[in-house]
Amino acid sequence: PKTKGWVGHHLYKYEGFWHNNRHLDGLLSYQRHFSANDGDVLLVTTPKSGTTWLKAAVFSIVNRVCHPPGSKNHPLLTENPHGIVPFIELQYYGSMPDFTNMPLPRLFSSHSPVISLPKSVQESHCKIIYLCRNPRDTFVSFWHFTNKLRTQAGAEATPIEETLNMFCNGESLCGPFWDHVVGYWNASLKKPDKVMFLRYEEVRAHPDEYFKKMAEFLGCPISEEEKGEGIVEELVKLCSFDHLSNLEVNKTGTGKFGEANNAFFRRGQAGDSANYFTSEMIDKLDKVTYEKFSPYGLIM
Ligand code: A3P
Repeated sequence: PKTKGWVGHHLYKYEGFWHNNRHLDGLLSYQRHFSANDGDVLLVTTPKSGTTWLKAAVFSIVNRVCHPPGSKNHPLLTENPHGIVPFIELQYYGSMPDFTNMPLPRLFSSHSPVISLPKSVQESHCKIIYLCRNPRDTFVSFWHFTNKLRTQAGAEATPIEETLNMFCNGESLCGPFWDHVVGYWNASLKKPDKVMFLRYEEVRAHPDEYFKKMAEFLGCPISEEEKGEGIVEELVKLCSFDHLSNLEVNKTGTGKFGEANNAFFRRGQAGDSANYFTSEMIDKLDKVTYEKFSPYGLIM
């Protein structure tokens, strides 16, 4: 271990980023064994930036013809988004399964920093949608999530100040958080047709606009006829926090690794961190954000 535990895990530094051993094993398998196809879509996030929402959104957008968003047997009504779109480094460590029977387009999610992307992802025409979230809310969401899992397992919750100090030093799962974001920001500027850079807060404020943009980016734009039928509104409603978090599967179900599906739904809002931070904590975090982001013109 290169650093003290981050909320109960030892972290290992690899290619400039911190990973726990399970994530690192998975990342190495991903780098060595995954072969991207031109039509693939990768949904990349830092932990707690809205991965669950992005999975629901992209799955429902690209499959809207075979699974109309208003249909009574839409897969999202009975399955958690994490059961529908696999997490490439978390589910397949050790080796990669045979994906030949996977429905097209193949959708995968990942927390991999841009520097660790497999060659085939960089060289193929697969697309990447990167969703980030402001560091304050990402941090608070992560702190809640890990404490929920820790206390469920009988461990003690970690104090927020201690966890924030580590986060600000870059020591968090897939951190430094800011370097992760900057990596994909630069990639999106360099290759806007390959990498789409989205912010949780903006998608939350204008979901219709961003669902349309995602469809366009993925090469399946919403037609005028579909717009007239209210498809965009239906997609947004299907994937909304209120709708997904109130489905029985997401209230009581569990995922592949025994994690409660409801752990992925907490408040689903922008700005909730204000309820947890002192002004000193805000200053500390904002200072790092300013130092790390301003050279790249990134505002968050
Ligand atoms: P909060 O803890 O702030 O509520 P991830 O999916 O990357 O693990 O991120 C989880 C965060 O996204 C949680 O944030 C969760 O509530 C929020 N979230 C989950 N589903 C959402 C949805 N459909 N719309 C908006 N936010 C959602």
